[in-house]
Amino acid sequence: MTQALLHIITKRPMKENETYTQYLSHKPEVQGFFDPRTNTISYVVADFKTKKCAIIDSVMDYEPHGATLFFESADTIADYVAKKGYEVEWILETHVHADHLSAAPYLKEKLGGKIAIGKYIVDVQKIFGKVFNEGTEFERDGSQFDRLWDDGDEFMLGSIPAFVMHTPGHTPADMVYVIGDTVFAGDTLFMPDFGTARCDFPGGSSETMYTSAQKIFELPEEMHMFMCHDYLPEGRTEYVWETTIGEQKKHNIHLKEGTDKNRFMQMRNERDSKLGMPRLIIPSIQVNMRAGEVPKNDTGNMELKVPVNSVFSRKG
Ligand SMILES: [Fe+2]
Repeated sequence: MTQALLHIITKRPMKENETYTQYLSHKPEVQGFFDPRTNTISYVVADFKTKKCAIIDSVMDYEPHGATLFFESADTIADYVAKKGYEVEWILETHVHADHLSAAPYLKEKLGGKIAIGKYIVDVQKIFGKVFNEGTEFERDGSQFDRLWDDGDEFMLGSIPAFVMHTPGHTPADMVYVIGDTVFAGDTLFMPDFGTARCDFPGGSSETMYTSAQKIFELPEEMHMFMCHDYLPEGRTEYVWETTIGEQKKHNIHLKEGTDKNRFMQMRNERDSKLGMPRLIIPSIQVNMRAGEVPKNDTGNMELKVPVNSVFSRKG
C-alpha cells in the first residue's frame, strides 16, 4: 500500500448545525440494472418532477477472449431513459472500477450529460500510469472527466439536492453519492450479509475503509442505500442491492456498528490475501482511468496493454 496516498478524512459531509431534512424530504426514482457478467448494478436515478436523471456506474460489455466490446447493458439503460423521457444531467462513477469497463462515453454520446468522478482519480492515474507504462499523452490530472468532485460537494439533480462523500479504502478515489434520501454506496459497503469491498488494490487500505464506513454511518438510518455489486453470499439465492443505513449499522457482517477497527483490518486483510484478481481488471483500469475511453495506438486503433508479472499477478 502506498502510504503517501492515504487521505485523512476530516471533512464532514454536513456543515455544523445543518440537518439532513432537506435530503430526506426528496425521494428520487431509482431503477437498478443488474449485469450478470460482472455482478454490477448500474442505476438510473431521476427527479420525477423535472425528469432530470443521473446514470451511476454504467457497464460497457467486454468479451476478453477476443477483446470484443459491445453495448447490451448500456443500450438497456439508454432505452429505459428514452422510454421514461428523462434528460441525463450526470453520468457518475463511484470510482475507477476494476471489474467492468465503464460505458460513460457511449452514454454521453447517446444521451448527453456530464461525466464525473472523485478528484482523487489523479492518484489512481498516477499509480496505474506507471503500471501500464503510459507515456506523457496520458494526462494524470483527471482532465478526461467533465467534473471532479471534492468531499462534501453539493449539486442538484433537477429539484433534488445531492452531495458527494469521499470514502476511500477500496481505492483512494471512491465516492458515495447521496441524492435526496438515497445513498449510492459504490464499492464501500456491500449488502449487510456480504460485508465490504476488498481493500488490496494499489492505493487501497482496510484502515481507511473502516474510517469511511464510520463516516457513512453518520447519515440518517432511514436513508435508502443501493449497492454497486452483489455476489450471493452463502445462504442467499437471489440477487439484492437495496438496504438502509440503519440495516448496515445493525447487521453488516464485517463492519456493523461497534466493530473494533483492528479486528476489521485483520479480517479484511486476511480475506483479501486469498482473493484472486477480477477477470477484467487489466482492461477495466486502462479504460476507466480514461473516463471510459479505450486507448488508441499510433494507427488510431483501440489497443490495450497486458503487463506481465505486475501488481495484478497472483499465483494459483
Ligand atoms: Fe470496485
